[in-house]
Amino acid sequence: MNKSERYALLLQQIRSLTEGEGDVTANLANAASALHEAFGFWWTGFYLVRGEQLVLGPFQGLVACTRIPYGKGVCGTAWQRRETVVVPDVEAFPGHIACSSASRSEIVVPLMQGGDVLGVLDIDSRELAAFDAEDAAGLAPIAALLAEAIG
Ligand code: SME
Repeated sequence: MNKSERYALLLQQIRSLTEGEGDVTANLANAASALHEAFGFWWTGFYLVRGEQLVLGPFQGLVACTRIPYGKGVCGTAWQRRETVVVPDVEAFPGHIACSSASRSEIVVPLMQGGDVLGVLDIDSRELAAFDAEDAAGLAPIAALLAEAIG
């Protein structure tokens, strides 16, 4: 299975995991686990918009920073830009927030509903340039589904 086929399968899996379940924590927790296990990422999780900050939500991986201000780090930048941010080398991203020194590359996908950002999906890898346009394309419908599930 290539990457986009794996994302398509994950979309189906996450859809059946969240269908009929209205609890935000339960849905995001299962989605984080499904994504994390499918690809063996280093860190996979969610930050949710709470006022002017992103607050740590369900995740898989090591402990992480709990609050990220609007426009800060990769996560706060994706929130501000309202678009997916792919960072091939976190050391080259100005303002990157290093929760783990092992993290080398990152992708952050906003969870959007009707033009509002509800939160972000953040995935980190220990490899440089682990994420590309195929990951962004594969994660987009998953983020849309989750935004709907938590909105
Ligand atoms: N690196 C992120 C912070 C979150 S951790 O990677 C889990 C950022 O720059 O926003």
